[in-house]
Amino acid sequence: MTKKILVLPGDGIGPEIVTEAMKVLNVFVDEGSLNIEAEYAHIGGAGYDAEGKPYPKSTQTLAKAADAILLGAVGGPKYDTLDRPLRPERGLLAIRADLGLYANLRPAILYEELASASSLKPELVANLDIMIVRELTGDIYFGQPRGIETLPNGERRGFNTMVYTESEIERIGRTAFDTAMKRGKKLCSVDKANVLETTELWREVMIRIGKDYPEVELSHLYVDNAAMQLVRAPKQFDVMVTGNIFGDILSDAAAMLTGSIGMLPSASLNKSGVGMYEPIHGSAPDIAGKGIANPLATILSVAMMLRYSLNQPELATRIEAAVKQVLAQGKRTGDIYTEGCEKVDTIAMGAAIVAAL
Ligand code: NAI
Ligand code: MG
Repeated sequence: MTKKILVLPGDGIGPEIVTEAMKVLNVFVDEGSLNIEAEYAHIGGAGYDAEGKPYPKSTQTLAKAADAILLGAVGGPKYDTLDRPLRPERGLLAIRADLGLYANLRPAILYEELASASSLKPELVANLDIMIVRELTGDIYFGQPRGIETLPNGERRGFNTMVYTESEIERIGRTAFDTAMKRGKKLCSVDKANVLETTELWREVMIRIGKDYPEVELSHLYVDNAAMQLVRAPKQFDVMVTGNIFGDILSDAAAMLTGSIGMLPSASLNKSGVGMYEPIHGSAPDIAGKGIANPLATILSVAMMLRYSLNQPELATRIEAAVKQVLAQGKRTGDIYTEGCEKVDTIAMGAAIVAAL
């Protein structure tokens, strides 16, 4: 069956890295192991430039019909003076909410060739392989009421609301337990149940659904301790599950353990398995147009797409093996370059992966 892929290159380095990732995907099409139909559309600043909106109607229509979406990145200084609803970043939030992409999977894997690029000592991060499961459409980022108000005494007060329903916690919890079942069967749920009622409910629900997964060893950490443990002894973790705000912060911290933001892919899934796949970095305006961005995070996002939306785990594994092979050959883009390696540009890195495949 032909699967529909929507490609949203976006802004800045987005088009450069997505071009390389599509070359990699097309290796499988050309050899006959994958049947896809790819369409392209605008998002972010590119959507604003083409149609006056960061998430144009035409993009929305294609997104709703797609089996999977590959996104580059959005944003750039040229859009910083626009009204907030027209800003590129709003396009990204809109498509996530529109498609109900509540489960954000962020693997933090250290490729041994990049151990010297990590912010931690090599022995602490050797073979690091953590999967962070972050809830993406709830929590204090979306909770009502929110705003900035002026009190009777004239002082201003800002407020947001942390909120999760039991069913929202349960569905992300099940995603996390299912993920743990396919990995090392260890799940750490991160909350602040000692202080926040929302996360007291979170912990209660995790314990309840954990009974359906007797093989998974469930543990709990308060978020402050989890942050400390991530930089003290990150290899104790297999799968971590947490809410939107804690997951945002912890996954960025975990990312840095692996060397470069240019290496890290992500998947955002909804309940029907439709997914959006994107590197975790932004549009990198400082290097956009120079042809030097690292395309590996986007190429590894294609691997996640093959695994989670296209039911092609063997092809996903082949991409990951090709990345290892190319790193072992010593090829490095600027962000992961260390002395003695061969510095390559975006196109050469993409070509090396294609050649390895
Ligand atoms: P950024 O992730 O774009 O860049 C941070 C630093 O990492 C820069 O020095 C950049 O050159 C470098 N970098 C990022 N990706 C790289 C790659 N593939 N290869 C080599 N180096 C890379 O974050 P920044 O600068 O805070 O934001 C720039 C723009 O991107 C802003 O408009 C921001 O709103 C947007 N943004 C978009 C995201 C998305 O589309 N998912 C996520 C984060 C930021
Ligand atoms: Mg973040």
